[in-house]
Amino acid sequence: TIASVADVLAGKYSVGTAVKVQGWVRTKRDSKAGLSFVALHDGSCFDPVQVIALSNLANYEDITRLTTGCSVIATGTIKQSEGKGQSLEIEGSAIDVIGWVENPDTYPMSAKRHSIEYLREHAHLRPRTNIIGAVTRVRNCLSQAIHRFFHENGYMWISTPILTASDTEGAGEMFRVSTLDMMNVPKTENGDVDYTQDFFGKETYLTVSGQLNVETYCTAMSKVYTFGPTFRAENSNTSRHLAEFWMVEPEVAFADLSTIAQLAEDMLKYVFKAVLEERADDLNFFEQRVNKDVVKRMKSVVDSDFVRMDYSEAIEILQNCGKTFEFPVEWGVDLSSEHERYIAEEHVGAPVIMQNYPKDIKAFYMRINDDGKTVAAMDVLAPGIGEIIGGSQREERLEVFDSRLAEMDLSPEDYAWYRDLRRYGSVPHAGFGLGFERLVAYVTGIANVRDVIPFPRTPGNANY
Ligand code: 4AD
Ligand code: MG
Repeated sequence: TIASVADVLAGKYSVGTAVKVQGWVRTKRDSKAGLSFVALHDGSCFDPVQVIALSNLANYEDITRLTTGCSVIATGTIKQSEGKGQSLEIEGSAIDVIGWVENPDTYPMSAKRHSIEYLREHAHLRPRTNIIGAVTRVRNCLSQAIHRFFHENGYMWISTPILTASDTEGAGEMFRVSTLDMMNVPKTENGDVDYTQDFFGKETYLTVSGQLNVETYCTAMSKVYTFGPTFRAENSNTSRHLAEFWMVEPEVAFADLSTIAQLAEDMLKYVFKAVLEERADDLNFFEQRVNKDVVKRMKSVVDSDFVRMDYSEAIEILQNCGKTFEFPVEWGVDLSSEHERYIAEEHVGAPVIMQNYPKDIKAFYMRINDDGKTVAAMDVLAPGIGEIIGGSQREERLEVFDSRLAEMDLSPEDYAWYRDLRRYGSVPHAGFGLGFERLVAYVTGIANVRDVIPFPRTPGNANY
């Protein structure tokens, strides 16, 4: 039987079973008693399995030359371990070396501890390390849990397009996609670029959010979500921003802001529980080596009621807290991450659902509140990271929507299909977007979102 390391260590096979394990050498040590201990990992769990090679194996000489990173296929029987640190191990009857490491002294992923910045510069080899292996399993566990949560709650997963002509967030931070010859761009009579000659016949971009598209399916299928890559050409070199990141965007019909505030709370609790149950091995590592609070704070999120707070109340708290912030606070400003973290970490000490922001700092599609100056928007602010979710109730009233477009100098023709949703059987609806990398960063305690996505895209970096 070909067995995964995870299955062997979890006791899926009884002692005495013959198994074959395929993987890479994490470490190898030789004992004076004429045997070698090879720690093999295959990505399936945090711990490697120990394979014992006795000196009577035909290729024992080769086995003693194994170094970190070599690939091998080990055959043997499962036995109770006598050593400390593991309960089951494999007594090897054959260890075939599949791939050597050509020069162990210059192997970039040698067994010593490397800085996270160093690993980032070797993104093609870093999945072999403990830390990135653990991140990868946690990331996978979280995506599966997200799909399971929505599936169990009657949501349909909608594939929304990557290529689009609409700027959902209206922030002008889009990557243009074009087949035009940059050296010889066709021009119109008045000197503009003639996009009618481009592949799609008009200016096209990578999507910043699947929201507008998923709204169309929401107004037919009732409960939907999209989960895919999104792109932002914002030039922010921070530990929370990527040019390409994954977003989870549910959208609910016949719903208001409180529906999706509750949905956000339920979803986060569900996925935290899943990762606490399924990835205890990896979380234990993050707790010891990255941030001692990761498990504690997730458990406290699972057990706490999220606090709902109005933006206006937050402004008062920030103004009266006696702290000086880099960015001064007054009603109408967008909250910066220092403000968000003060509220979530120091004032409340639990996740906060901040609601009802000034309309002037929010997107065109958000529903205007009765006060005429705020919109039914919400952000979920997590202690330790700040905003991880942003959402809103959408403006479903055609006349209000049209006057908002006019106020923002946007043309109704550009939003023709979106307006149709308001013309035919319009319905109150609401949704949010969860930044998936911010979630993974929160769960692992890893400080920079560049280290929780396999190949980070940031200003000046699209390597690999
Ligand atoms: O707040 P945002 O911009 O909201 C939207 O895009 C809405 N259309 C979502 C919706 O209502 N369906 O982005 C949502 C979340 C943020 O809270 C943040 O977690 C994450 O996406 N995010 C980023 N994550 C990494 N890098 C970036 N550059 C991000 N920009 C936003
Ligand atoms: Mg936002």
